[in-house]
Parts: sequence; C-alpha cells; structure tokens
Amino acid sequence: MLRKSIVSLAVTSSLVFGMTAAYAAANPSDHAFDNKIVKRIKVDNIYKTIELLSKEPRVAGTPAEDKAVEYIAKQFKSFGYNTEIQPFEMFQYTSPTTVELSVDGFVDTDFAPDSFTYGANGDVTGELVYIGLGGPDDVDGLDLSGKVALVKRGSYTFAEKILNAAGAGAEAVILFNNTSGGINGTLGEPSDGYVPAVAIGRDLGEQLADRLAAGEGLTAHVKIAGAKVERQTSHNVIATKKPNPNKDTGQIVIVGAHHDSVEGGPGANDDASGTATVLELARVLSNMPIDTELRFITFGAEENGLVGSYAYAESLTEDEIDRIVAQFQMDMVGSRDAGELIMYTVDGEKNIVTDLGAAAGARLSGVVNYGQEGRSDHVPFAELGIPSALFIHAPVEPWYHTPEDTIDKISKDKLQQVAEIVGAAVYQIARPDTPALKNARVAPKPVDYEFEERELE
Ligand code: BES
Ligand code: ZN
Repeated sequence: MLRKSIVSLAVTSSLVFGMTAAYAAANPSDHAFDNKIVKRIKVDNIYKTIELLSKEPRVAGTPAEDKAVEYIAKQFKSFGYNTEIQPFEMFQYTSPTTVELSVDGFVDTDFAPDSFTYGANGDVTGELVYIGLGGPDDVDGLDLSGKVALVKRGSYTFAEKILNAAGAGAEAVILFNNTSGGINGTLGEPSDGYVPAVAIGRDLGEQLADRLAAGEGLTAHVKIAGAKVERQTSHNVIATKKPNPNKDTGQIVIVGAHHDSVEGGPGANDDASGTATVLELARVLSNMPIDTELRFITFGAEENGLVGSYAYAESLTEDEIDRIVAQFQMDMVGSRDAGELIMYTVDGEKNIVTDLGAAAGARLSGVVNYGQEGRSDHVPFAELGIPSALFIHAPVEPWYHTPEDTIDKISKDKLQQVAEIVGAAVYQIARPDTPALKNARVAPKPVDYEFEERELE
C-alpha cells in the first residue's frame, strides 16, 4: 500500500535525484566529514554488545527479549536519546504434535501431510470434494457441510482457500502442491474461521482429484492436535534525536535492526550484529550537529513475520511518513563466513538509501553491490513509499538460524565496514551543511539526472 501522496512522491523522487547528483560527484570535503564518523566508531563496542546479547536466544515475547530490550533502552538513554519502548501484540504459534491424513482406498499410502502455521486443531472424517483453486467462484453455491475439501495450491493465499472452503461448510481442507516438494506454509495470522487443514504433495493430490473426477467416492480423515496460539507482547525500542530547531529540515532518517532471534539460535549475527551497530552509530552521532531528526530503532518479533516493524509503521502519522526520507536496515552485518556487503531493496531499484550507501562505500572501502530482497524490517517502510534498504552480507553464512550463530563467527572487519558505510551515509543526510536535500525539498526540480547503470545481483 503506497500511502505517500503524489506530491510528496514527486518531492521524494526529486530528492533522490538531487541527492545523487550532489553526492555521486566526488567531493573531497565529504571524506573529511566521513572521518568525523569513522574515527569515532569503536568496533570493540559493537563486538562486546553482540557478545552480551548473544549469550542466549532472544525469542520475541520471552523474558530474554525483555532483558535485551531493557539493555538497549538503557544504552540509548545513556547516550542522551529520548527513548521509548513501544509494546505491540503478537501471536506465538506452537506446531501440532499430531498431523494425520488418511483416505479410504489409499491405505498403503503415506501422505506425509504438513500443517500450516496458525492452522486449527480438529478431528474430521468426511466425503472428499475437489474444489479446484478454492477461490470465491469455486465455492459459490456449493454446500460442503460435513465434507472435506480438496484444494490445489495457486492464485489465492492458503488462508483464503481455507476460509472459502469453511465458508461453504467444509469441515477440513486438504491442500496439494502445484509444484514438486512440500509446502511449509503459513496462514499469516490466527482466525476463528479456519478449519483443520493439511498440505500434501502434488502427485498424491492430483491422484485424488483424478479419482474424484472419475466419479469415485472417497472418504478422508484429517486429524490435527496439539497446535496452540498464544497472545504475547513484544517491544520495539525507539531512540530519537531532534535537530537544533533553528536548523531543522523537518526530515527524519531511521536506522534500524531487529533485536529478536529465532528459537534455539543465539543470533549473534542475526541480528545482534545489526542491533549492536545501531547502538554504536547512535553513540557516535549523539554529539554531532544535525539538521535532520534521527531515529534509531531496534525492532522486536522480526522473526515472527516483521511484526515489530509493521507495528511501528502502523503507529506513524501521515505527517511523519511524509517526513521520513530514508530507512537504513542492518540485518546480519558481521559474519566472518558470509559474502560481500549488499544493499537490498524491496523493488530491486536504487533509491536515496542505496545512493548514499554506494557513495559512502566508494569513498571509504570500495563498491557495495545491489540486490532485490524483502525478508527484513525495511519492507514495511518500502510499503509506505519510504526509500529503504537492507544492508546484509550475502551469500549468508551456514550458521543462519542455527544454534551455531555465535560470537566466535563474528568478524570485526565486517562490522567496521558496515558501521562506517551506514554511519557516513546517515551523516551525509543529517549534517547541517548538505544543501542538496534541503534545496530539493523546498524547490523540487524535474528529474534530469541519469543513473549510471549498475548490475543488480
Ligand atoms: N536476517 C534474516 C533475513 C535474511 C536472511 C535476508 C537471508 C536475506 C538473506 C531475517 O531475520 C529472517 O530470517 N527473515 C525471515 C522472514 C521474515 C518475514 C520472518 C526469513 O527470511 O525467513
Ligand atoms: Zn535477521
């Protein structure tokens, strides 16, 4: 959903081009400004914070997350930031202990059924009916009361298919794949409208559909037990520094990371590395003169589906959305075993964030590559029309989301490089003597700058 008005989009895009023209041009004095940031960054601070945070997994909604949140908030406050802990609700889903499927006449077949995240429990036996893709038209006028619906993957979300079938009376759903392999699916959020649902492979699903089409009557038995949905509270930590009111462009820059980790994973790289770098950049920038509001944010429940960053995005006013000119997301920025630094945007296009990152990279340590990827907290900002990018090393390390994502795999060189590039890029916008951004905002110019073509990954 793009909520920016046409006018503000025009302003923003001219900002992007104006900035690029200003910053891509080699300006030797920029390097002197970079040095103000670079010489203040203490990579040992970052390393020590990662060490502290990664002593245990920081699963959203658990006491370990609360501990991390308190530590982060305390640090921000000690640097003099106005610090807010923003609570939000989330759901913790426990997978079922029993997932069973049998169909009369298929006694020897192991369907190896999968469940869906947020799926419902239940024990249902009923006549099997094929309803194609399970769209609204497929169930229109059907009475599936007491029946089990067989549905093919595609065109609609899993949740839509299940709700459509249930709406027509079906008591359970069997969803089969439209390509090879299994379905590791999520319904996105809990709903009282779901009926128990299992996922099976394409070949077995097609066999069932063919036999029904040939007029055979089949009875299916679906059982799911032990699944649980718990409501929990996670938190974002938001540190704000306002510019001197006499020199305020009215613009806001956000620097973010997520402080939560997956279950069983200490998340040294994912994403204590980004969180610790956010804290260090907050420290470094705390005493710098700025004409742009800075918000350093660590998000909770990223691993549960970007829940914290969506909650933060929801909490923004239209005025704030219009004033946020850039969001830098650092996620997995310190692995010794990962590849090069890449800036990922949701649409794969360059924007003001990647332009500033590329220019800072070129001045400081060489080329930074581009790519297209969601999968982190830059997504909700991109969806609001805010220029954003994910800074990450790729290909990612083998320890990603494992118990081995520990401090011994963290490289100080990698941390230093990212802290310098993001720090210099943020300061480039925020320092009071960069007129391009301000001028462009006041008097937007038509787009007349040609980007040099760079390869997308
Ligand atoms: N740090 C990862 C994102 C990531 C990993 C991006 C590898 C690019 C390459 C993040 O914490 C994560 O694991 N995200 C989830 C998605 C999210 C919506 C739950 C993922 O990628 O599975
Ligand atoms: Zn992550």
